[in-house]
Amino acid sequence: MPIVSLATVSKAYPARTPGDGEVIAVDEVTLEIEKGDVFGIIGYSGAGKSTLVRLINALEPATGGTIHVDGVDITALPESALRKVRSGIGMIFQQFNLFSSRTVKANIAYPLKLAGWSKADIEERVTELLAFVGLSDKAKAYPEQLSGGQKQRVGIARALATKPAILLADEATSALDPQTTHEVLDLLKRVNREQGVTIVVITHEMDVIQTIATKVAVMERGRVIEQGDVFDVFSAPQNPASQRFVGTVVKGVPSPAELAVLRERHAGRIVTLSFRDGDSSQAQVFLDLAAAGLDFELVYGGINDIRGRAFGHLTLAIRGDGAAIDRTLATIGERVEVTELAGEEAR
Ligand SMILES: Nc1ncnc2c1ncn2[C@@H]1O[C@H](COP(=O)(O)OP(=O)(O)OP(=O)(O)O)[C@@H](O)[C@H]1O
Ligand SMILES: [Mg+2]
Repeated sequence: MPIVSLATVSKAYPARTPGDGEVIAVDEVTLEIEKGDVFGIIGYSGAGKSTLVRLINALEPATGGTIHVDGVDITALPESALRKVRSGIGMIFQQFNLFSSRTVKANIAYPLKLAGWSKADIEERVTELLAFVGLSDKAKAYPEQLSGGQKQRVGIARALATKPAILLADEATSALDPQTTHEVLDLLKRVNREQGVTIVVITHEMDVIQTIATKVAVMERGRVIEQGDVFDVFSAPQNPASQRFVGTVVKGVPSPAELAVLRERHAGRIVTLSFRDGDSSQAQVFLDLAAAGLDFELVYGGINDIRGRAFGHLTLAIRGDGAAIDRTLATIGERVEVTELAGEEAR
């Protein structure tokens, strides 16, 4: 049973000015998050990611569809029962949202106090959390005395304090530099692996998805336009918007500008072949080309690693008889993905 499941969930906000249409922030989204997933949601600004998060943790009601959290239909619950649902979900934010007038220790203790834990239990839990996030020496510091990465580690400790089963991270690394981003993502990986917490990561950076997520959903204008295992979406994105996101991190696919340069430098047809792990057909591709009497040259390429699985792209300039090239590419296309961009599409 999925830990979070959304069925045709929508959220419409009233029109901003009378006469305008309502704003459909989330539009019939259907997705399932399994226990233990690190589920990434990626999309450009305004795609509806944060709204989706507020629906999952019941901060706002959906205007359509049903949302199950841990088997409970939260769209049918009264406010009093929603508090319990929310206590099972931790949340971290881009701007950390720490209390600046409280120490690190008091920030982490805050949700435990609200939940009515005893002083001794709070003391023990906070000590444990500080050790887990590597900030035992900062218990008495104030947020302003911490770096961005340290602040987010406090945010993570606070979010985990009451032992939620789900952690929602909305652009949690967007305010951090790349090195610090990776440290925080490593910590989130440990949260997932060592504590079994299901994590939903909202981001506009594909790099974050590549580093940490196991599943991904791509959002555009309120809709989920593509979703699946990170490896599948990264190695063969189906939708143009997904292809643009994937193109920002995947190695080996020439950009339109690079393709134009390749065309200038190399005679013949420029063809990109995409290989996935498990393909044992790379050698056969070259044998097929040689057997057809075609002359070819490798002009671009790269291999990607997604959580230990590889996929790659090779771009070739192929010269020879046009019909022979067509026939050979058709044969090759039965085993690996073949992309040949016409001159116009390349621009
Ligand atoms: N409370 C609200 N009232 C009216 N419209 C809203 C409200 N919250 C969000 N919206 C609109 O819903 C759409 C989705 O917003 P949302 O904040 O979910 O996007 P996002 O994907 O999180 O963007 P970003 O990457 O910039 O954070 C936007 O058009 C936004 O203007
Ligand atoms: Mg947002």
